[in-house]
Amino acid sequence: MIGVLVSGNGTNLQALLDAGLPVRAVASNRKDAYALVRAREAGIPVATFSLDCHANRAERDLVLAMWLEEHGVELVVLAGYMHLLTEPFLRRFPNCIVNVHPSLLPSFPGAHAIDDALAAGVETTGVTVHLVDEGLDTGPVLAQEEVPVEPRETLVERVHAVEHRLLPEVVRELCLAAH
Ligand code: GAR
Repeated sequence: MIGVLVSGNGTNLQALLDAGLPVRAVASNRKDAYALVRAREAGIPVATFSLDCHANRAERDLVLAMWLEEHGVELVVLAGYMHLLTEPFLRRFPNCIVNVHPSLLPSFPGAHAIDDALAAGVETTGVTVHLVDEGLDTGPVLAQEEVPVEPRETLVERVHAVEHRLLPEVVRELCLAAH
């Protein structure tokens, strides 16, 4: 069973849903994330765990992890989730948290990877799917695919297209390996 964490539009969540993967819970740090609308439309339980409602990140992450566990989640996918996870969360899902990131990590970690790659003038960027640790877009790489930067006008679209194919592929493999 998969739990997905989101902060934004949720096109990667949509790709997981469209691939027929067993997403059983979707949580966000932002109540206005459009991804929550997508989840509700798919009939999936949603919840928001805003930092404003908790004493600190560690406490918020513990409550979030417990909510996912209550929904039978074994594998957590970060699909555009823009907060770092703290130890209380990581401890509950050891080696079972996956992130998708729009660059060839370790190049261009952070929230603006595509813009950063354009600004750096590299010829090739790409997509990384990796296991999550306490760092910013660090952790063992599971899959990477290159995307040429040119033509620049369509780079965002082409990177997202690769994400929407690569993330469900890797998540499907992890689900098969676990059962
Ligand atoms: C995706 O491009 C994802 O790789 C990126 O946020 C976007 C979310 O889009 N994640 C990161 O940059 C993580 N550091 P989505 O909400 O439409 O899936």
